[in-house]
Amino acid sequence: MPRKKVTVVGAGNVGATCAHWVVAKELADVVLIDVVEGVPQGKALDLMEAAPVEGFDCLVTGTNDYQDTAGSDVVVITAGIARKPGMSRDDLLATNNRIVGDVAARVAQFSPDAVLIVVSNPLDVMTYTAWKKSGFPANRVMGMSGVLDAGRFRTFVALELGVSFEDVSTFVMGGHGDDMVPLVRYTYAGGIPVTQLLPADRIEAMVSRTRQGGAEIVNYLKTASAFYAPGASVIQMAEAVLKDKKRILPVAAYLNGEYGEKDLYLGVPAIIGAGGVEKVIEIDLTAAEKDMLTKSAASVRKLLTQVS
Ligand code: NAI
Ligand code: 2OP
Repeated sequence: MPRKKVTVVGAGNVGATCAHWVVAKELADVVLIDVVEGVPQGKALDLMEAAPVEGFDCLVTGTNDYQDTAGSDVVVITAGIARKPGMSRDDLLATNNRIVGDVAARVAQFSPDAVLIVVSNPLDVMTYTAWKKSGFPANRVMGMSGVLDAGRFRTFVALELGVSFEDVSTFVMGGHGDDMVPLVRYTYAGGIPVTQLLPADRIEAMVSRTRQGGAEIVNYLKTASAFYAPGASVIQMAEAVLKDKKRILPVAAYLNGEYGEKDLYLGVPAIIGAGGVEKVIEIDLTAAEKDMLTKSAASVRKLLTQVS
């Protein structure tokens, strides 16, 4: 069977980390592409020279030429600018919209059957732009946010309880912004509802910290935003596609009436397999949860109107 091929557009912090996770898990050959000359080539060669040490058999190519990306199974779009302290994800809108639109059109030309995973911010709007400009069916374009946001919430809960990180499960819905919707009612540690294990005020503090999780890292790094957990989150989604795993993951998916939203990309639980988003899962929400989701969707829609 021929090797799978993953292209990562943008050889910056998130892009390089994605490439690292792909080869560490020996999922596919990787093409790293950027507008800056030398950086993708240097990072790709450096990463491939870890192959004999770590024992993975993946080719890693760095390039500035889209022809090298041809025939990719998955394309990850991280191209654009990242947040600096004091900037919101939304401050990146105009610049990244232009970059992501251009990138999506080019990758679609060379990899017409790929699944696109968008990372650039503001995430939900950039995913919509990538979908429009690629011309792909909506199920083959999705955005990464919920796996990361849920990962942050899981981390905080596990630390608070002093239990294994992998025993905590949850998901986060809505847009990848300050009004995202971490779902306490669907949060479990070893199958036990977290509401039975922790007082409400501690849980609320962790919900707030999750909403501010991106800013917390930016405030430490000053000149960059998070990349280790984002890279790992992207590659969990990519792995689900490459191995047709049918995982249930929170992703930014195209909504056509689900949750009362139409013609919008928004974070929802979905089945992820070879076809990309194979099914959006509609879960029961309380009135309060539904209100939070509607508010978050309205924020995404407001940004979307600024670029379309
Ligand atoms: P970075 O600045 O380290 O890397 C961005 C790279 O994109 C740079 O190497 C730059 O040269 C490249 N680039 C710019 N224009 C390009 C073009 N037209 N074609 C190809 N490459 C181009 O930024 P970082 O930290 O990697 O973040 C990338 C994006 O991902 C940002 O927009 C950031 O806000 C977003 N992000 C989203 C997350 C999420 O949860 N969805 C999590 C973390 C970051
Ligand atoms: C994050 O959540 C910046 O969106 C990015 O870390």
